[in-house]
Amino acid sequence: MIKLNQKTSKVNHSKFSKSLLEWYDINARNLPWRIPPELTKEGITNDPYKIWISEIMLQQTGVKTVQSYFLNFIKRWPNVIELNKAKEDDVLKAWSGLGYYRRARNLKNCAKTICEKYNGIFPNCTEELTKLPGIGNYTAAAIVSIAYNKIAFPIDGNIQRIVSRLFEIRDEIKNDKTNLLENLKEIFSQKRPGDFAQAMMDLGSIICKPANPTCNSCPVLKYCLAHKNNTYKSIPFKTKKVKKVAKKGYLYIGITDCKKIILIKRPNNGLLGGTICPPTSEWKVNKFPIPKPPYEGDWKVLDNRLFHSFTHFELELKIMISKVKHFPQNVYLEPLNDYTLNSLPTVMKKGVEMGITSFND
Ligand code: ADE
Repeated sequence: MIKLNQKTSKVNHSKFSKSLLEWYDINARNLPWRIPPELTKEGITNDPYKIWISEIMLQQTGVKTVQSYFLNFIKRWPNVIELNKAKEDDVLKAWSGLGYYRRARNLKNCAKTICEKYNGIFPNCTEELTKLPGIGNYTAAAIVSIAYNKIAFPIDGNIQRIVSRLFEIRDEIKNDKTNLLENLKEIFSQKRPGDFAQAMMDLGSIICKPANPTCNSCPVLKYCLAHKNNTYKSIPFKTKKVKKVAKKGYLYIGITDCKKIILIKRPNNGLLGGTICPPTSEWKVNKFPIPKPPYEGDWKVLDNRLFHSFTHFELELKIMISKVKHFPQNVYLEPLNDYTLNSLPTVMKKGVEMGITSFND
């Protein structure tokens, strides 16, 4: 049974954002895509291209990992025009390790549309932005608020958690964010929407953390109902995770006479879509398929298995390795060095590393 609020309060809109922004002005994280608050207050604005790239990277990857990827990406393709000229394979390689490779292909498609239809300039409203490949409601709202300092509500996990605790919202908020949005609208800053959104993200990451929030240092503690009623540990409400499906298959590492690894381009529409990887078998639920190496050779199976967790399933791969003399023309042959390894998706990098170690033993 849902417990009724023991204490209720109405959060004062302007006082809340004032307290939050005063804290942000001193404690804002120094992030490479971000213009710090002392400059945004002078009217200096964030670059929509940088905010777009960072938000797409941050969709499924943490801030710590994203920073170096972001810096390398921006150094190589500093604006949307340069990105539009890039080869898709190069963008996918720069993305390797970040996962969810469809994001990288969408980046390329989106850069093309921005250059061809919008003259290289990102739209400044969510309606136009959400028409672009790979830009959903969240990313559109982040670009509008952070890059253009216009009113929009990017609701990420941090903001969800903070607003749920502030207003003691106990609903399952995964799909329906209406209630959350209504409450967020009561407290956000009309004057500094971009800094407000980023301040909420920083508060969620530094103080109002999922487990063990450090409420004693919270600049908006006095507005927090979940703290008042000591319910913050169970908010936001989460249903128990279902166990993931197990899939199994083979990874085939073929090495040529001149010590190059044979790679293929995976189909665009599947998992790791469009990336360049060693070939694999199909991945079967709960049992290994019959191994069928794609090229003639003296294939050996390693004792060690490779395990990798995807969002919807756990993958277990047996690794097969062989010298290969004959292979089709349309494969990629790459030297076995760090550059090649680092261009592979994480799961494939792990597999190739395991394979080479045993091959050299
Ligand atoms: N998480 C998602 N977007 C973010 C941003 N712009 N800054 C910090 N953390 C984020």
